[in-house]
Amino acid sequence: MFTYDFSGKTVVASGAGSGMGLLLCECFVKNGGNAVLVDINEEVLKEKVDKINSEYPGRAIGLVCDVRNYEQVANVCKKAVETFGSIDVVTSMAGGAETRIFNTWQNGYKEFCDIPIEIFDWSLDVNLKGQFYFAHAAYKYMREQKSGVILGIGSITGHEGSDTAVGYATSKSAVMNGWVKSLAFAGAKYNIRCNTIAPGPVMTRPGMANMKTLIGRAAEPQELVDLMLYLCSDMSASITGQCILMDGGRSIMFDKYHGEFGKYDKK
Ligand SMILES: NC(=O)c1ccc[n+]([C@@H]2O[C@H](COP(=O)([O-])OP(=O)(O)OC[C@H]3O[C@@H](n4cnc5c(N)ncnc54)[C@H](O)[C@@H]3O)[C@@H](O)[C@H]2O)c1
Repeated sequence: MFTYDFSGKTVVASGAGSGMGLLLCECFVKNGGNAVLVDINEEVLKEKVDKINSEYPGRAIGLVCDVRNYEQVANVCKKAVETFGSIDVVTSMAGGAETRIFNTWQNGYKEFCDIPIEIFDWSLDVNLKGQFYFAHAAYKYMREQKSGVILGIGSITGHEGSDTAVGYATSKSAVMNGWVKSLAFAGAKYNIRCNTIAPGPVMTRPGMANMKTLIGRAAEPQELVDLMLYLCSDMSASITGQCILMDGGRSIMFDKYHGEFGKYDKK
């Protein structure tokens, strides 16, 4: 693993109760920084924050927040600055495909138009508006600091599209295109950079192992977090407004084997 010097810097990350959000916070702290872990699941959050602080006392706090609620998001950013003095990196990792979260397939919703609209509302609110809210709330502090990194989280689904997870594909695609470019435009004069990482399958859950990639495997969470850490650091000072796919080559595989690939996905 590369090492960075994040001493005196603070990351605010939602969805940090598990998966890549948690790992990003743990690695940020290991590399000298502070972390504000945010999640809707209070019990899990407390356990993870206590674990980080047992090794690195006082370097992490946990704040319960639903990313769909702007007031709660704004309070998180305020509390982060009150506690650690700055927000140097902000990211809202909370998310997921509505098809998985609500088991739409198993619940008998076979097609896009049969899935209740509330499920799409959830998907757009968490996957897109949550990221928008965090960027909006943190930006004010970054503008004052004249520095900051906004990290978006996309997905290969935002690139490929999906006949079932339409809300997920739509929201991730926005974060990979209009959102990342616009915030990079807006932030440049304040030394605020914005980039999005779009993963293919990642082994934050075992089911991902079955998904096809050109390299024949899903990525380990650490591989994604290593890229995130690079984008958080000054080593990537020239990169802004970009969406970087880390998908094991799945995106070019889709283009090449379009017909066959459809069959794989539905097996
Ligand atoms: N794992 C993959 O294969 C993969 C692939 C592409 C993109 N992604 C994206 O990466 C991100 C992280 O995925 P992961 O698998 O590491 O995460 P995960 O599913 O392990 O964790 C998500 C966390 O978000 C929290 N959360 C859910 N709803 C919330 C809400 N409304 N407010 C606050 N917190 C909430 C959950 O409690 C959970 O701790 C997601 O945005 C996901 O869409 C993941």
